[in-house]
Amino acid sequence: MSETTTTGTTMTDTPAATTSVAATPPRLDRDANRIVFDIDDLDVYYGDFHAVRGVSLDVRENEITAFIGPSGCGKSTVLRCLNRMNDLVDSARIEGTIRYHGVDLYDRKVDPVEVRRRVGMVFQKANPFPKSIYENIAFGPRISGYKGDMDELVERSLTRAALWDEVKDRLGESGLGMSGGQQQRMCIARALATNPDVLLMDEPCSALDPIATGRIEDLLQELKSEYTVVIVTHNMQQAARVSDRTAFFTAQMDSDDDRRTGMLVEFDDTENIFSNPQDERTENYVTGRFG
Ligand SMILES: Nc1ncnc2c1ncn2[C@@H]1O[C@H](COP(=O)(O)OP(=O)(O)O)[C@@H](O)[C@H]1O
Ligand SMILES: [Mg+2]
Repeated sequence: MSETTTTGTTMTDTPAATTSVAATPPRLDRDANRIVFDIDDLDVYYGDFHAVRGVSLDVRENEITAFIGPSGCGKSTVLRCLNRMNDLVDSARIEGTIRYHGVDLYDRKVDPVEVRRRVGMVFQKANPFPKSIYENIAFGPRISGYKGDMDELVERSLTRAALWDEVKDRLGESGLGMSGGQQQRMCIARALATNPDVLLMDEPCSALDPIATGRIEDLLQELKSEYTVVIVTHNMQQAARVSDRTAFFTAQMDSDDDRRTGMLVEFDDTENIFSNPQDERTENYVTGRFG
């Protein structure tokens, strides 16, 4: 994927600045399963509360990785660590390491604003700005100083989000006037407009009907040729349908606390998680016997 920005060199500069490694690491073949995120022994705290313990997993390029598990097991918390959204929560603190294309995401030289441009996010509930469809897409690129052809960027982003044909004749109308599914695809287009390489999605279909959900799932299959996707879903069928690999989390009582701490139970190819899980807790969950 081409990198068109000239402002955001922070992420790629960091290793070169601190080591003698070449500024542009050799690009490995897709078949080599290039690792986008390397999460190593991640703990997350909200104040004194130990929300997530000891999570280690890899997110690979051009794959869809699903996070599943019961409510409160830390799926959103771990997801938000991947673009430093938890920085915006005052009480949040992490231990462990997250590498993004080999760069320590929490290195103080890394600019969190640049991280969020490269690692876009789509939320549970579509959150269009109270602006026109066009302005919803153009807003992010404009504030980051995009100097190219904005009409072309808006069209390309909406096309990639499979929304262009439905809205091309009403780009000046409010983004709030669309259906829920269209709004969510607009939010995907908005995230794509800043040219990210990863899309994080936190239960993006939970407010949508099955038809709108199916359109988003089809879209994800198209997007993964160009992007890496991490999706939180409470819908196991959705994880089974769309993802390449699945991480099953659960929450267990902590010994030094009376609250439940989230942990990763099992991470594997999606097929294995659903047809041949190694951990009894995974099996109970995916077969609906979770108590
Ligand atoms: N901003 C926050 N402040 C304090 N506790 C939080 C915050 N966000 C989440 N938590 C707690 O962290 C735990 C994990 O939450 P979350 O990541 O939202 O789980 P999930 O997405 O799996 O439902 C829960 O116990 C939740 O109450
Ligand atoms: Mg959540």
